Amino acid sequence: MLEIQNITICYKDRPTVKNFSMTLHRAEIASLVGESGSGKTTVIRAVLGLLAGGGKVTAGDILFEGKSLLKNTPDQWRKLRGTDVSMIFQDSGAMLNPTRKIGDVFVEYIRTHESISKSDAWKRGIAMLERMRLPSGDNIMHSYPFQLSGGMRQRVGIAMAMTFQPKLLLADEPTSALDVTTQAQIVRQMMELRDEYGTGIIIVTHNLGVAAYMSDLIVVMKNGEICDSGNRDDILSGNHSGYTQKLLEAVPSLGGVRYV
Ligand SMILES: Nc1ncnc2c1ncn2[C@@H]1O[C@H](COP(=O)(O)OP(=O)(O)OP(=O)(O)O)[C@@H](O)[C@H]1O
Ligand SMILES: [Mg+2]
Repeated sequence: MLEIQNITICYKDRPTVKNFSMTLHRAEIASLVGESGSGKTTVIRAVLGLLAGGGKVTAGDILFEGKSLLKNTPDQWRKLRGTDVSMIFQDSGAMLNPTRKIGDVFVEYIRTHESISKSDAWKRGIAMLERMRLPSGDNIMHSYPFQLSGGMRQRVGIAMAMTFQPKLLLADEPTSALDVTTQAQIVRQMMELRDEYGTGIIIVTHNLGVAAYMSDLIVVMKNGEICDSGNRDDILSGNHSGYTQKLLEAVPSLGGVRYV
């Protein structure tokens, strides 16, 4: 479904990400792990065509369902983003407009991608919120982001991102801002969505424990390059570099349980 072929990404002249390749199939979950500044966000933003600061893919290619995303026109991007490919951020509260109610934002989002009535969009929003096990969806739709907890806001972000049953979901540290119990719940819900919709997920995480628990594939980055990549069991069973070993030794527990 997604094939990243040996890409180089530059912000100015110096390459920030080099020789990065990975393949993701339908319903697979891949984790992108590595220390701060290693280039994880840069990679997923490149997949979504949303590199900030004048960033560019200067070599290689990114294929989605066999077609190069790098050739997309702005119009093609608008149609793809939020439908076939969508993204959730570290803190969905920051993405949601603080001065607007969840329901207004959700309804507008649905209606930019599909021509349905406001009341149908509202119902669809509530159904998605309930799908993420948010109680009383109608109340949430009438709330401002600050009235919800961090975990609730993150569920709202995931509910929105899943509305159009994306083939590919990109998640940049979706659970890092949350306590471990909520982290564990959200990780489980993302896995359920994968099972139900067949969504392929790339999740950026500092937490190799999260990666180990939820992913089929693990890609470890260091200084803009891949330092280990492969299927989870292979990486965890010791087929990895000294750097990954160090990350493994530093794994905290998830919901009170250690997964590695
Ligand atoms: N908008 C930008 N303009 C210029 N350089 C940038 C920009 N964003 C990132 N970079 C450079 O790319 C490098 C990788 O950044 P990136 O945000 O991809 O790392 P990361 O692995 O996501 O880190 P973190 O875990 O802290 O989120 C950084 O060291 C930075 O120098
Ligand atoms: Mg980042």
